[in-house]
Amino acid sequence: MGDPALKTIEQIQENAIAPVSALRRWLVGAGAVAIGLVGCNQPIELRAQEQRPFTPSRHLAQRSTNADVDALVKLGPRVAGTPVMEQASGYLVEEFRKAGYVATIQPFTYTKYVDQGSTLTVSGATLKGQALRGASSGTQTGRLIAVPGVGRAQDFATVTVKGAIAVVLRGEIPFTEKVQNAADAGAIGVVIVNNQAGNVAGVLTRESTIPVLALSQEQGKALLERSPQPTTATLTVNAGRRTITGRNVVAHLAGVTQPKVLLGGHYDSVAGSPGANDNASGTAVVLAIARDLARTTAARQTWFVAFDGEEDGLHGSRAFVQSASPAFLKGLKGMLNFDMVGVNDQLRANGSAELTQLVRLADSNTTTSGNAGGSSDHASFAAAGVPVLFFHRGLEPNYHSPNDKTIRPNLLDETTQTALEVVKQLAIAP
Ligand code: BES
Ligand code: ZN
Repeated sequence: MGDPALKTIEQIQENAIAPVSALRRWLVGAGAVAIGLVGCNQPIELRAQEQRPFTPSRHLAQRSTNADVDALVKLGPRVAGTPVMEQASGYLVEEFRKAGYVATIQPFTYTKYVDQGSTLTVSGATLKGQALRGASSGTQTGRLIAVPGVGRAQDFATVTVKGAIAVVLRGEIPFTEKVQNAADAGAIGVVIVNNQAGNVAGVLTRESTIPVLALSQEQGKALLERSPQPTTATLTVNAGRRTITGRNVVAHLAGVTQPKVLLGGHYDSVAGSPGANDNASGTAVVLAIARDLARTTAARQTWFVAFDGEEDGLHGSRAFVQSASPAFLKGLKGMLNFDMVGVNDQLRANGSAELTQLVRLADSNTTTSGNAGGSSDHASFAAAGVPVLFFHRGLEPNYHSPNDKTIRPNLLDETTQTALEVVKQLAIAP
């Protein structure tokens, strides 16, 4: 049965001394103890967990692949609203069911900004750029004026962009501010040139009234260096809105309607990227925790959600939160989100003081901080007042690229073990 080499490793591990985390060591024989948190009024109760053999999956570092990550990556880029997501969600439903859970698909819809081909034509050459999400569509022809600096209001005082297309460098201030300053100065269009190699996938937090196009550093360098003699250029933003149907996968044991813990990770990826680390890695950790918990009473306190539409702006998690009752959200002691946990050695957990304290007790090697930020699905829960914990391992070179093809399975195992300790503590909290 199975791979004989793997079986040998398991046998070796069964005889080895199981690794014991600081929290587990501390709990042995300690019973229930209350710890007062520094700078926090409410003590956290830490309780002895039900005893069962420890599975040392943290030591399965020898494995070179993770079956769940492989299965998801093999499907190709998992872009929300595409047929690939029917296959990916089907795979996840099946895996949760195999682990003993009731798994369903929660559909939701949102409108997506789609760039249908946006360009800048200058001196007879047409450059293909990226419309900033939220930029208005249209074609404008006018003088092309390089604005010194990054497009602060004072930068526009040094040049005349009235009736012209303004070229500014990316960075330092938000895209929306650059565009507003250009429009205030009378520009009819804006070109933003990347300040580093590659393309820009920019988002305007307020829809613009003028077309805005991003160019790569390579494409735009010459435009910024252009001598003061103005050149005429044509800027075209050709974008539209499409209604997307996303599919969250929601799993829990039959009859569990009010969990204390919700574990989540997004399973969609950006166009063109296989999304191994972002975020088949987090999805695989949620599945691994579900399989492990299935044999414990903690499973009766837990829900698991694989979110869709994250890359388009946290749509799946927002839809889940919007569909949940206030009582359901109030009953959650923690939402644990896993996003990009398969590359980089250092595991990080950001979130509420109570939850990061549990992480430090579970594993002193995980770095913690109080600010979970807004870059992933936990933010939708934090906005609804749910305490959150964001597990990740920071940025890496293959982020959002076609090269995001592999993860290190031992890093998933390590994340799973640390998070499991936290989940079990939350599940037995009063
Ligand atoms: N996986 C990222 C978030 C992330 C970034 C996790 C760096 C760990 C390290 C996520 O899928 C993403 O790309 N988020 C967007 C914002 C979101 C609101 C669309 C981002 O960070 O730009
Ligand atoms: Zn991403």
